[in-house]
Order: sequence, then C-alpha cells, then structure tokens
Amino acid sequence: MFIKKRPSWALSQSEITPESVYLNRRQFMSGSVAVAAGLSIPGLLPAAELPVQGKSLNFVPMPDYSTAEEKTPFKDVAQYNNFYEFGTGKGDPARYAEEMTVDPWSLGVEGECEQPGEYALEDLLKPHEYQERVYRLRCVEAWSMVIPWIGVPLADILKRLQPTSRAKYVYFETLHDPDQMRGQRSLFSTIDWPYQEGLRMDEAMNELSFLAVGLYGKTLPKQNGAPIRLVVPWKYGFKSIKSIVKIRFQEERPETTWEMIAPQEYGFYANVNPEVDHPRWSQKRERRLPSGLLSPNWMETVKFNGYGEQVAHLYKDMDLRKFF
Ligand code: MTE
Repeated sequence: MFIKKRPSWALSQSEITPESVYLNRRQFMSGSVAVAAGLSIPGLLPAAELPVQGKSLNFVPMPDYSTAEEKTPFKDVAQYNNFYEFGTGKGDPARYAEEMTVDPWSLGVEGECEQPGEYALEDLLKPHEYQERVYRLRCVEAWSMVIPWIGVPLADILKRLQPTSRAKYVYFETLHDPDQMRGQRSLFSTIDWPYQEGLRMDEAMNELSFLAVGLYGKTLPKQNGAPIRLVVPWKYGFKSIKSIVKIRFQEERPETTWEMIAPQEYGFYANVNPEVDHPRWSQKRERRLPSGLLSPNWMETVKFNGYGEQVAHLYKDMDLRKFF
C-alpha cells in the first residue's frame, strides 16, 4: 500500500528549506566533525563524496543544437538531482544510485511497431554516432541548469524500430527493482512504481528530443539516469525519464507518473510556460544553478524553455492553459 506523502516540489516555497539554511549546513558539514561522525542530512553530500565521472565517450559537438550559456558545473549537475527511486532529497541519488547495476542493460520494445523485442543497450546504440548538445533543463520546481549531454536523437532510434501508422504516442518506463532502488522500498513513497512517462509521436520525432547516455564527455553518472535517459528540453524536467528499460508505441495517450499523482498540478504536456503558473507557485522565474544566498541567480523563464522556434508549431491549435 502506498502512503501518500507530498513530494518536495509539491511543498509551498516557505516550506522548502531556505537556501541560507542549506548553505550554512553545507559549510558546516564540509569540514567538520559531522562528516567524521557520518551524520547524514538529506540533500547534502560531504565534499569527500564528490561523484566520480564515468568512461570517456567519442562524440560530435552540435553547435546548432547547443546554447552558448554558461554550463552548470559538473558537481552541481551530479549532486543536485531528482531521482525518487533513490530518495526524495536532492543529495540522495548521488549517495545511493551506486547501488544500481547498469551493465548489462537491455530495453524492451513493444506495441505498435515492426521491430519489437528485447534489445541489448549496445545493439540499440551501435549504428549511431554520439552527439553533444548543450541544453537548458528547467525543473517544474523552478530551478534550472545548462547541461552538455552526449547521446543520440530519439527520432533516429524510434525510426529504426519502425512505428506503425497506429502509433500515436511513445511510452517510456524506468527500471523497477526495489533491491537496487531504495526509494522503491520506501513505505512512504508517493509513486506507484515504475516511473513512467510519454510523448506524443510528433513530439518524440522532433529534432530536439534526445536519448542521453552521457554528460560532460563521459557516460552518465548513475544519479543522472544511467545508462540511458530521455532529455526533452522544452518540457519540465519530470518528462525526462531516467534509466529507461521499456519503450512502447501505442494508440492511446499513456498515463504518466506525476499526472497520476496530482493531475490538477502536473499535466501530460508539461511544456515550460511562464504564462501558466503551478497552482501553488509561480513559473515566471527560475533559479539557475549554481545559486546561493548572495547570488540566487534568478532569471525570467522563457516559453518552451527558449526552444519555441523548434517546437511551438506542435501546439499551434491547443489551449496551453487546458493542456498544461
Ligand atoms: N526519472 C525517474 N525515473 N525518476 C525521477 O524521480 N525525476 C525527474 C526527471 N526524471 C525523475 C526522473 C525530474 S523531476 C527532473 S527535474 C529530472 O529527472 C532531473 O534530472 P537530473 O537529476 O539529471 O538533473
């Protein structure tokens, strides 16, 4: 039985630990007896546990698909995460995702396509050249990052699987393995596992939709969704599902995790949109990480996260207040 507990992003802003408290605790933790005593405060990692980077990858930089904005440092990208399979604190994924094995890895392909089956990850990726794309990532919680991803356009992989004319949506699913994912063992979990997401077929085939296998030139840290995760840069981060084990082509719109939890707050489309506030907080601004007390780094949020030129046509006849 799932005991409903509100997720961190469902808390009102005053309930969230203020940055100042966070930073002070962090400074305290980094050089102090608390570290030696092994105390753990959710959301924090002692400096000694900085995540190590993975294996180097060969890739082609794609300047046409990359923002020139300053990249978020690796340590923030790999230490400030949402990956509820490992806990709800921002530092939990970096601390516990090591408990997940990502090699070997395979993906099941099902539904409305000509090439269903179980694919070893390397077979799925083999024909493709890796690209590097520096994308903005905007979380629904109103923070954002700029991340140099390595991967393959989602459309290139989906085309090889040959969707039929009945395929109107693509569904994605994350690994469900409570032995390896401590968040899935928790009695207080909000989520009915596995984490699931989906895109309309034309969204999935858009040139920006990306399957990432790495970041900062190396294989993905486990906390960022190793060994393969979705990146949909014009949508709130929760659409960018991690550690994918299943792809299904289907005629009906799939049920998606956050929409199932709170349909009045999180929609299927989840396009970044400063004109449509979350019922409990504004979406007009975002905190670009790294952000601190003295330089919170607030900036205006841009519709479709700044990717309107590439994606606005997908929604031209839709009321985005209704289909949020
Ligand atoms: N995928 C899974 N399986 N589980 C999750 O909890 N969180 C989402 C998304 N993908 C999540 C997930 C959310 S809310 C965000 S903002 C991004 O992952 C965060 O990606 P990052 O930690 O690599 O920055």
